[in-house]
Order: sequence, then C-alpha cells, then structure tokens
Amino acid sequence: MIHAKPEQWVVEADGIAADYSGLIALEDIDLQLRTAQLTAIIGPNGAGKSTLLKLLTGMKKPLRGSLKVCNMDIHAARRANAVAYVPQETAIDWDFPISVRDVVLTGRYGRSRQAGGWRAWLPPRFIGSDHHEKALAAMAAVQVADLADRPIGALSGGQKKRVFIARSIAQEAELMLLDEPLAGVDRRSERIIIDYLKEFVRSGKSVLMVTHDLPTVRDCADWVVLVSRTIAGVGSPEEMLSPEALEKGYHRIERSKGGSGC
Ligand SMILES: Nc1ncnc2c1ncn2[C@@H]1O[C@H](COP(=O)(O)OP(=O)(O)OP(=O)(O)O)[C@@H](O)[C@H]1O
Ligand SMILES: [Mg+2]
Repeated sequence: MIHAKPEQWVVEADGIAADYSGLIALEDIDLQLRTAQLTAIIGPNGAGKSTLLKLLTGMKKPLRGSLKVCNMDIHAARRANAVAYVPQETAIDWDFPISVRDVVLTGRYGRSRQAGGWRAWLPPRFIGSDHHEKALAAMAAVQVADLADRPIGALSGGQKKRVFIARSIAQEAELMLLDEPLAGVDRRSERIIIDYLKEFVRSGKSVLMVTHDLPTVRDCADWVVLVSRTIAGVGSPEEMLSPEALEKGYHRIERSKGGSGC
C-alpha cells in the first residue's frame, strides 16, 4: 500500500489574532506554509505583515489561536534556534562601537549557549573558533566579509541590511524571516540577497520575506501570502499578483479606513 508523503509545514496558524493595547492588528489568521519555499508576504502599509513575523518569532504573543513553526510550538522553536529574524527596523544605536564581525557573531550566541559549558557565558567575541568560522562564512555568503572589522555605524544602509542578514545566516536556522530586506538596497545588494535566499531554500530550508517589491515577488517567490489584517489570499505569484487579487488585498484596508476622496 502506498502512503502519500505527509506534508511538511513550516508554519501552521489556526485562528490567530493579535492586538496592540486592544486595537486589533490581525484576526482570523489561518495559514499553512510548506517547507523549502520562498514565501513572499505582501500587503499594504499597516496590514499586519510585521506583526505576523513578530508572532512567528515569539516576540509577540497572539491574543488567541494556535501557532506552530517547524512542527514545534513557538517556545520550543526558540529553544531549538529554529527561527532567524531580520527586523524591518533595527533599533540599534549606530554610534555604539561594535564591529560588523561582532554583530554577526551575536547570531551564533544561541548556538554557543545550546552547546553548554563555561563558554556559554562569554561575550560573542570570545566564543569558540568554530563560531568565528561560521560567522565568517555567513559574511562571505552576502559579501560583507571585507567589512568585518569596520564599525557597524560606518556602513551604508544596504551594507547594514546585508550584515543583519549575515547575522541571521550565522544562526543556521530552519526558517528565516525577513522584514523588507530589499527596502533601500541597490540592484547589486538585492541580487546578492535573493541569490542567497534561493540557495537557502534549495538546501531544504524555508524563507518568509515581507516585501513591497512586487516585480521581485513575481520573479523569485515560490508562494505568496497577501495580508490585509487577515489573510486576503494565498497562492502562486501568478495568482496573487493578478489585478483582481491585488485589488482585493490592497483596497480592503483603505475601504475600512474610509477614502480621502482625492
Ligand atoms: N508597537 C505598536 N504599538 C501600537 N500599534 C502598533 C505597533 N506596531 C504596529 N502597530 C499597528 O498595528 C497595525 C499593523 O502594523 P504592522 O507594523 O504589522 O504593519 P505592516 O503591514 O508591517 O506595515 P508596513 O508595510 O508599513 O511595514 C498598524 O495599524 C499599526 O499601526
Ligand atoms: Mg512592516
């Protein structure tokens, strides 16, 4: 008797809602995403895309519903270092004297603590040489290795973006969440980032990328989720970038706010 291979889901959300001080940002989120895909999350400003990623990292708790990542609950996924996250805005003081290398090494911190022993308590710079090698490989993957000793504050916007992606790569997670990694980056940086993400997916891992760059979604995504306070649509790039699908997702919020009449 032939059994169909069970589906491998990297994200399973069932009836998720999220709020900020009682104001609902997301509701009725039911979503299942397959592993080893580059899934793009699109939708208008304020649609809840960043909130959705924050829920998947465990940084934000859902109001209700159940959420699994890599077949684990969020806490187990955190402990397993299964999820890496590149935030939309990096709330760091750019004048703080930290080098690119040390920023990327913080991506190894969870792994070094997982290994246990006295090294787990050391600052990133002093963790073992294998962690330094992984950090260097991560920097090389997005072509920032030559910037390793520069202070992070001395980099351009696109270079900083690549450094934070390198930090995520260094984590060796199963799922990479990226919130607008292509915003403000030039074509070359965009190519480097996309090529790396494709390679990551080819190795069996999964990517969820929030972006407003619809031509890149058309070219690069395997699957698209249109968010508009809820899931306004899920499908192939061809389906989700059709004028009808975009109209449904992008005008939902505008309609609920009431038009400006312009
Ligand atoms: N820290 C916060 N406190 C209060 N409200 C918030 C907070 N963060 C987000 N919101 C609200 O939640 C809603 C969803 O915000 P979110 O940042 O998830 O949207 P988004 O789809 O990522 O938008 P954008 O494309 O502009 O990044 C918005 O109405 C926003 O004002
Ligand atoms: Mg956002």
